[in-house]
Amino acid sequence: MGDGNSGGARAVRAADQGLVEKDKRGTGGPAAQIQGISEIESMGSQGKCGRHARCIFHRKGCALLGILNRQELGGTDSIMRVTVIGTGYVGTVTGACLAYVGHRVTCVDTDERKIARLRNGEPVIYEPFLEELLALAAGRGGIDFQTEVGGPAAESDVIFIAVGTPPLPSGEADSSYLEAAARSIGAAMDGARFRVVVNKSTVPVGSGNLVETLVREGIADARPGERRHIRFGVASNPEFLREGCALADSLYPDRIVIGASDEGSLGIMRQLYQPLVEQSFEAPPGVPRPAGLGKVPLFATTLTSAEMIKYAANAFLAMKIGFANEIANICERVGAEAPEVMTGIGLDSRIGKRFLSPGVGWGGSCFGKDIQSLLHTAREYGYESRLLQASLDVNTAQRQMVIQKLQEKLYILKGRTIGLLGLAFKPDTDDLRDAPSLHIAERLLAMGARVKAYDPIAMKACREQRPDLKIRYCESAGDLAQESDALVLVTEWQEFRTLDLASLAGRMATRILVDGRNLYTAEAATAAGFDYTGIGRTARARTAEQREARAAPGEARP
Ligand SMILES: NC(=O)c1ccc[n+]([C@@H]2O[C@H](COP(=O)([O-])OP(=O)(O)OC[C@H]3O[C@@H](n4cnc5c(N)ncnc54)[C@H](O)[C@@H]3O)[C@@H](O)[C@H]2O)c1
Repeated sequence: MGDGNSGGARAVRAADQGLVEKDKRGTGGPAAQIQGISEIESMGSQGKCGRHARCIFHRKGCALLGILNRQELGGTDSIMRVTVIGTGYVGTVTGACLAYVGHRVTCVDTDERKIARLRNGEPVIYEPFLEELLALAAGRGGIDFQTEVGGPAAESDVIFIAVGTPPLPSGEADSSYLEAAARSIGAAMDGARFRVVVNKSTVPVGSGNLVETLVREGIADARPGERRHIRFGVASNPEFLREGCALADSLYPDRIVIGASDEGSLGIMRQLYQPLVEQSFEAPPGVPRPAGLGKVPLFATTLTSAEMIKYAANAFLAMKIGFANEIANICERVGAEAPEVMTGIGLDSRIGKRFLSPGVGWGGSCFGKDIQSLLHTAREYGYESRLLQASLDVNTAQRQMVIQKLQEKLYILKGRTIGLLGLAFKPDTDDLRDAPSLHIAERLLAMGARVKAYDPIAMKACREQRPDLKIRYCESAGDLAQESDALVLVTEWQEFRTLDLASLAGRMATRILVDGRNLYTAEAATAAGFDYTGIGRTARARTAEQREARAAPGEARP
């Protein structure tokens, strides 16, 4: 762990002397003295506060920042007032988790329908245990939902931006929501307290500086006379949650990355995340703490490094899955079993077994758009990243692999009925953004096939978001199999693991199963009557001994 701001300590000490001088001159109360980040730094990150057991700030800083202490809270950790802008996957989960560990949170969204539902305790996304956690959070730190950012932001110590950053046709991330949010924060600011504006959205490198400029512009527009007295810092706190297990990822993260523009902001972020770093909170019933979890590392970096860490992490994970798919395609041709090969390489601690399961390719809202955005940034700096481009190309081709397998089995797809088992880009979410299922359905429909689908959660979202896709939605896997010419397993929902394959096969017109996630063994599917094909697997028979000796393939979903 390190602090990317190498000059920070020097700056703090020099500025600290300045504050002492002002104190001696008696130039009014502390609020009047402290007007900018350099002065906030003067609170000192080295010296301990005399009043607060864990506070890294100077005594006056604590009072100024409005941070309550352990005693004031009757023995709980310090709490903060937090606003989260954007109530999508990231914003809702962040708000719920921070309120659960004791902070007072307001979530803001411009979408009135979302806010109305959230006020009724209904999450607008499907995420296991989120509804229950929101209810618990309301009774702990407290959480409420608003459509206007002004009031909550004015009262907050920390303001998160968690709005969407979808891709533009050029591949560049669309920063327009981020820009609007930053301006609205600026318009809400006054001189009453120091605030940290935190980017949680995945934003192009350099956006921290942009946010600072936009907040300043917002301040200048709303309160031109006061702008010199309004104090704030900017931080980047990239989000690494995985949909489907977002609460566990947020409450028990592998690491917390904070890129901060100044020591004061970093100090506040450390304080905000203290319950997560220390794991000092009681685990909620539906989200048990992983056995043996100790302290969570908080990695402090520069703003730019934090922004880059998020892109680099996603690019690497996507590349790892793409690599497994490339090797699987070669395995099929040479007669090797890809899951065995992946287990064999994953046992090497330098490689690791996770994210090595071959399949129909990755999807979701992040990998594709983040790689596109990183490619765009690299190009802006005159660099052509061949590896990142290959990662995208391999994934697009992998989705096409399913169509090829169907063609190999059925020859003509026109007029055939294909049933998709699963629509969501991964289990335990209803997120369809860049889902392989949609790509596969589009291709099949374009080729004249009939497409049916069954998904335990995501069918409603698909109906609403893709009315153009003429999919026949089914009530169950059995209904899906009825008179179908082939089934394609796209999403490895838990319920699909225990399907009665023989009963499904018995309902079909042609008993073809393309297992896009290698969920079943060839032996079980064949015994159930299917003509089975997986990804990177050969249909060679195995002895019981070989089957037993075979290790389970590693986990591999974004
Ligand atoms: N979904 C993930 O798994 C995930 C994981 C890590 C990082 N991220 C990143 O986090 C960010 C948010 O992702 P998401 O999936 O939660 O997005 P989302 O599209 O689900 O939600 C974004 C929300 O922001 C709201 N919004 C837009 N502009 C607003 C404004 N000015 N004021 C208030 N609300 C506004 C929208 O109405 C929407 O509800 C993105 O940058 C994404 O790349 C997402």
